[in-house]
Amino acid sequence: MMLTNLLSGTVRSVGLTAVMRAVGVATRLLPIPQPTMLVGPGASARLGQAICDFDHTRVLVVTDPVVAKLGLMAPLLAALKAGGTAYVVFDKMLPDAPVALIEQGVALFKRKGCDAVIAFGGGSAMDAAKAIALAAANNKHPAQLAGYFKGLRTPAPIYAVPTTAGTGSEVTVAAVISDPDTQRKLVIADTRIVPRMAALDPNLMLGLPPDITAATGMDALTHAIEAYIGHWRTAFTDRMALSAVGMIFEALPVAYANGQDLAAREKMALAANYAGQAFTRANVGYVHAIAHQLGGRYHTPHGLANAILLPHVLRFMRPAIEPQLAQLALRSKVGKKTESDAVLASKFLDAIDAMNTRLGIPTTLAALREEDIPALARAACHEAMTNYPVPVYLSQAECEGVIRLVLPHEPLGGVDADSPVTTEKAARRRVVAKKAQRGRVAAREKKGT
Ligand SMILES: NC(=O)c1ccc[n+]([C@@H]2O[C@H](COP(=O)([O-])OP(=O)(O)OC[C@H]3O[C@@H](n4cnc5c(N)ncnc54)[C@H](O)[C@@H]3O)[C@@H](O)[C@H]2O)c1
Repeated sequence: MMLTNLLSGTVRSVGLTAVMRAVGVATRLLPIPQPTMLVGPGASARLGQAICDFDHTRVLVVTDPVVAKLGLMAPLLAALKAGGTAYVVFDKMLPDAPVALIEQGVALFKRKGCDAVIAFGGGSAMDAAKAIALAAANNKHPAQLAGYFKGLRTPAPIYAVPTTAGTGSEVTVAAVISDPDTQRKLVIADTRIVPRMAALDPNLMLGLPPDITAATGMDALTHAIEAYIGHWRTAFTDRMALSAVGMIFEALPVAYANGQDLAAREKMALAANYAGQAFTRANVGYVHAIAHQLGGRYHTPHGLANAILLPHVLRFMRPAIEPQLAQLALRSKVGKKTESDAVLASKFLDAIDAMNTRLGIPTTLAALREEDIPALARAACHEAMTNYPVPVYLSQAECEGVIRLVLPHEPLGGVDADSPVTTEKAARRRVVAKKAQRGRVAAREKKGT
């Protein structure tokens, strides 16, 4: 029977928090390597030059078909060629890094005698590259690597070039892959899959479409916030998380409105990186625990799921995290030091709603079905309870309640003024219905009925 079913709410929250605090002490002692970072326009070519100095026999470059077609790898590949480093490109990766494609990458790595990997793309391509390197070194199926330190042997060196500003995978211990057969996302965690070197090249992000800019940027914001409110936070992770939040509030709306703004793109790339540095040490929370289930079942883009869930999870946690929310409000410049924590916390939560609206993020998840919610909540609770040092542990019913808040629900025919608001269209219709209802009440009162 699952732990979640055994513990009462109180015991669960007190007991697991203590256990997670202890694990947090252990993780602080764990040395997490820090990649050498090359930052700025043209950084991907400079990384190519730097890789040549390591005298690899052949490098496997892992990317996805969209990134390959856009020609974003040209400067890096030209630098490898000029420096005399042989490479082979595996450009078949799909969103969420399905295990079957990772196996294909492992086979190519071995067949071509590769001794290093370049992870080039969004989180999906980067995580696939990390998983390929670890699976190749250990002769294991990628799914067998899910969990902590499941590979005995150290992988070949990994280099990374993110082309989205979201996951921070270029600095994290994690590789998130997916198993379409079980509709699950699997997390591989190992300090040896942190890339040796990485390039943050804003030139590569100029053409990122607004919806992907929005979703991936909100993913980075979620990393920073969940790292900042959890029990494993340290002075270092706080500094990284707060900086990331301030930078995202400043640069994300700019990058969304004008994708060609190089300064905003670079700021977002750095912010996602800082957020990655924060959460790879302090970990994440329920927004991620639920988003992973939505990604596994409905293939919801990870950042989009996070963005939709973030305000709801934070509002649920609010009583336990008001001082942190207040600090986040100050760093995102939506409040003043003279205001109380309660006022600042409200302002920060409203600012997240406003950011989502500005970025065209929907308020509900179109694919979500009521009948799936119990299983989604069960899996999310299990993921959170066994991995994440969250401020408050949710019961099954509480988690279901949070997920239900993003359920699309539009009544057939008219709209009940008191029904839950679940889509923007329904929200507008509800406002109209409320006005009509108020009008009818006022008319009745006037008539004395
Ligand atoms: N390893 C980690 O620490 C970590 C952290 C968070 C999320 N993740 C995982 O990362 C994955 C999501 O990564 P993502 O949000 O970066 O999305 P993604 O890698 O799936 O890419 C999303 C889309 O953007 C396209 N794209 C990427 N760069 C582009 C560019 N420069 N121009 C135009 N199109 C571009 C891709 O082709 C793809 O279609 C999920 O599986 C998530 O679980 C991993």
